[in-house]
Amino acid sequence: MAMTAATPRTKTEDDITNEVLRRFDATSDPRLRQIMQSLVTHLHAFVRDVALTEAEWMAGIEFLTATGHKSTGNRQEFILLSDTLGVSALVNILASHPTESTTPSLLGPFFRENAPMLKTGDTIAPRDKGEAIEMVGKVTDKAGKPIAGALIDIWQTGSDGLYDIQGDKPEVMDLRGRFLTEKDGTYRIRTALPIGYGIPMDGPVGKMLTAGSREGRRPAHVHFLVKAQGYEPLITHVFLEGDQCLTSDAVFGVKDELVSRVEGHDEAVMADGKRASGPWHVMTYDFQMKPGTGVVPQPLLSAAE
Ligand code: BEZ
Ligand code: FE
Repeated sequence: MAMTAATPRTKTEDDITNEVLRRFDATSDPRLRQIMQSLVTHLHAFVRDVALTEAEWMAGIEFLTATGHKSTGNRQEFILLSDTLGVSALVNILASHPTESTTPSLLGPFFRENAPMLKTGDTIAPRDKGEAIEMVGKVTDKAGKPIAGALIDIWQTGSDGLYDIQGDKPEVMDLRGRFLTEKDGTYRIRTALPIGYGIPMDGPVGKMLTAGSREGRRPAHVHFLVKAQGYEPLITHVFLEGDQCLTSDAVFGVKDELVSRVEGHDEAVMADGKRASGPWHVMTYDFQMKPGTGVVPQPLLSAAE
């Protein structure tokens, strides 16, 4: 194709950005066009801002390549990168409607579909030797109307600070389960007292954190995914008050309203009438759901009746 005077072949620092943007002008999907042109604008501004050298550019390419190589079916190093750069938390904040439901937080990389279906009061930590905690509360709408038959998916680390898929039997589901709320919207779940833990540091993201003198600690928390027919699914964490890392979460997931007090007990019998084998704890946390189109699979709804 013949070049005109208006489209010179030589690109300079002054015209390269506009030329790249122009090449995306014909993108037929307008949202994709907006995203690509904004990405190019910000990437070029970043390169100019730090006057990126060729060696630094190559180091960045090698870092992203290593991030891809570290990712497997059980390990998503790119999500970890997004998490530790605060991008996941920002996307989550922009998508959340904290005045209409409980504040959401990150899903994280350790959620698994089809956790065991359990009954009110059951434990999700039958093999864990840590101190016991009972998690109790209610699922309602914003006006306080109880939601019966809401499906609560819960998952956490054990008292070794590891999720089941990080241990030596990743094929066995542990420290996770699914519960249905009772007719009055209440739930009661027995588990092991969660402790703070470290995110995986043995990959490129860990190296990046270490090079930035950052820590990879997360404060003690439990993950919840709550679904109910006629409501938006709610993905969140509940954090345990008193943890030293609440202000320095490596993935920026903490919000004040998600921090819950934990009552300590030493009576011989726990609140649920079962014998205690040592000190035990109770955490009370209520969830509010936003009306929407969320649909719970039918078999689970009938199990609630
Ligand atoms: C988690 O809490 O499961 C988690 C979230 C983001 C990165 C690593 C771990
Ligand atoms: Fe977690």
